[in-house]
Amino acid sequence: MQDESGKTTTRRGFLQAGAAMGAGAMLAGTTAAAQSADPLITEIQPWAQGLGDGVDASPYGLPIRFETDVVRRNVSWLTADVISSINFTPIHALDGTITPQGCAFERHHSGAIELAKEDYRLMINGLVDTPLVFTYEDLERFPRTTRTFFLECAANTGMEWAGAQLNGSQFTHGMIHNMEYTGVTLRTLLDEAGIKPEGKWLFVEGADASSNGRSIPMEKALDDCMIAFKANGEALRKEHGYPVRLVVPGWEGNLWVKWLRRLEVTDAPVESREETSKYTDTMADGTSRKWTWVMDAKSVITAPSPQMPIKHGAGPLVITGLAWSGRGAISRVDVSLDGGITWKEARLAAPGQDMALTRFYFDHVWDGSEMLIQSRAMDSTGYVQPTKAQLREVRGMNSVYHNNCIQTWWVKPNGEAENVEVS
Ligand code: MTE
Ligand code: CO
Repeated sequence: MQDESGKTTTRRGFLQAGAAMGAGAMLAGTTAAAQSADPLITEIQPWAQGLGDGVDASPYGLPIRFETDVVRRNVSWLTADVISSINFTPIHALDGTITPQGCAFERHHSGAIELAKEDYRLMINGLVDTPLVFTYEDLERFPRTTRTFFLECAANTGMEWAGAQLNGSQFTHGMIHNMEYTGVTLRTLLDEAGIKPEGKWLFVEGADASSNGRSIPMEKALDDCMIAFKANGEALRKEHGYPVRLVVPGWEGNLWVKWLRRLEVTDAPVESREETSKYTDTMADGTSRKWTWVMDAKSVITAPSPQMPIKHGAGPLVITGLAWSGRGAISRVDVSLDGGITWKEARLAAPGQDMALTRFYFDHVWDGSEMLIQSRAMDSTGYVQPTKAQLREVRGMNSVYHNNCIQTWWVKPNGEAENVEVS
């Protein structure tokens, strides 16, 4: 750290200098004078008066009890029951880019099933030279790859089409997670079976009662799809498809079949057995568009936000959020504090990665007045995240899926934030 004279100062020197500057100083901390009266500084605390837990207290650790509110939540009125339902990742309370499996949102059509590795089989049939069945152990013997991708449900932000609905980034944008997957490329397995020249599509299905059957164009299947058996270094959790799920980078979540049991090579999409009609988008002119698999560039400020009010008053404020694109990497994120009238470039925590979440920060000195905060993502294709008005011009008011518009939070002088729409 350098002071005005160019001399390097220590953190302690910085704090003392801050104390000397007095009350008007822009310092994210209390002064040394205030600290001297603080028992947390001057007294020996209970946790220092005895011993802590031994190494075996929790062979598989859980978050400390003070963090028990950082959990998935559902919105009870959204679905009729909790079996065919969805919950939301607490993105407002997370930082960085990796979503811990334990709080990554879940979406099941017929509940999360328990399927042991010993009972696991993956079949490849249809237009192939050799139909094959793999056990879990077989899959572990193929050359492996590890890559990080986001999964976003096509319904994420769907409630917001009609107007500002849900108060919290967890609920407006939490049908997303970002994990590091380890597994085998789909191409490796399909090559093993040998695709016949007429094989242009891949019908994929899961072992759960809903089976979640979907058709994927062969081009995508051979490009970058993966059969994953590890997420964030450990086995997939039951709710995310243990022991094996399909990873379809950048494409809507419903194609990422969990508890994957069968891959059928076909010459056309198998519409009779899937729910494609559910995943169409109604356009402004009343027509529907179908097969909009790719998730367009999108971003959201995770804090401050309705569940993350500013508690410290005016002064230094870290504004942070997430950006992603199914078409490539995030190249830039801008932040507006005035509802989209003026924009400033945010700082990316790390260069954007293809089809993975990017964390951005905007370091601000807040004067305590109200703000309309927004973020706007740009991706490596040059695409810019649209405003809600721009999106409605094309998509009208009757869409449910694929809402990637700019989100606005109204931050009030007391630090509380609310979901609002700006014209
Ligand atoms: N796969 C199976 N077998 N059954 C399902 O119900 N739901 C799909 C997809 N794969 C589903 C499935 C949907 S709509 C989404 S958004 C993602 O899984 C959710 O993945 P997650 O539960 O790991 O978040
Ligand atoms: Co979904």
